[in-house]
Amino acid sequence: MTAASEFTSHDLVVAITGASGAIYATRLLQVLVNSGRRVHVTISPSGAEVLDHELGIRADLKNFDPQRLLVSDSVLSGDSHLSRLLPDAGGAISSIYEDGPQGELVYHHFQDFRAGIASGSFPTGGMVVCPCSMGTLASIASGQSTNLIQRAADVHLKERRKLIVVPRETPLGSIQLENMKRLTDAGAVILPAMPGFYHEPTSILDLVDFVVGRICDQLGVSHRLFKRWSET
Ligand SMILES: Cc1cc2nc3c(=O)[nH]c(=O)nc-3n(C[C@H](O)[C@H](O)[C@H](O)COP(=O)(O)O)c2cc1C
Repeated sequence: MTAASEFTSHDLVVAITGASGAIYATRLLQVLVNSGRRVHVTISPSGAEVLDHELGIRADLKNFDPQRLLVSDSVLSGDSHLSRLLPDAGGAISSIYEDGPQGELVYHHFQDFRAGIASGSFPTGGMVVCPCSMGTLASIASGQSTNLIQRAADVHLKERRKLIVVPRETPLGSIQLENMKRLTDAGAVILPAMPGFYHEPTSILDLVDFVVGRICDQLGVSHRLFKRWSET
């Protein structure tokens, strides 16, 4: 019998919470779908607020089409939040696209505890909370499971599956640092939205792709989002 930790499921979970950096989530979803994965997406109400504020994506969480999260070259044309954020990304968005079968997005309401991802019996290849607010970080660290995001994260920890948390806050206080320590001790990967500059970025998209690429590295999803250290 296969141990839970050896699941190589094609299903991944991405939770979007109310920290700045919604662009990291949308870019991540694009890359994962392009790599053929089925991605279960859930969004907290504050996550929806940030999506609207930063990317102009207005999400009615009760009735949401997750396709709207996928960034495309066509979304970048015209005067949109995204085209202002990524003014020089024309063509670069789709240039990461691999040939091959595309994956899909499956949306779950953040209060839907009947969703498969709320149970350890539902196999996944890992979960990413991106971006992760300090509020959700604290809730996961204390095992609260008061919504689907926290519950699915709890499940990934208890099943010893990959949980990648992408916090965005600065500066950090001792309670936040202690929560991160607690989570990493419990097996999570703390991967701050903290882009490097050694890969010679020339655009905001390059900085976003650095963080998204490091998340993909953790998930074992191959990508060509940035030049690696030995390639620069
Ligand atoms: C536009 C906006 C940006 C925010 N940025 C951050 C942030 O970068 N980090 C953070 O921890 N909280 C941030 N917050 C506050 C959280 O959204 C808030 O604490 C919320 O309760 C988190 O809820 P959630 O974890 O369920 O998404 C932001 C809120 C808004 C409206």
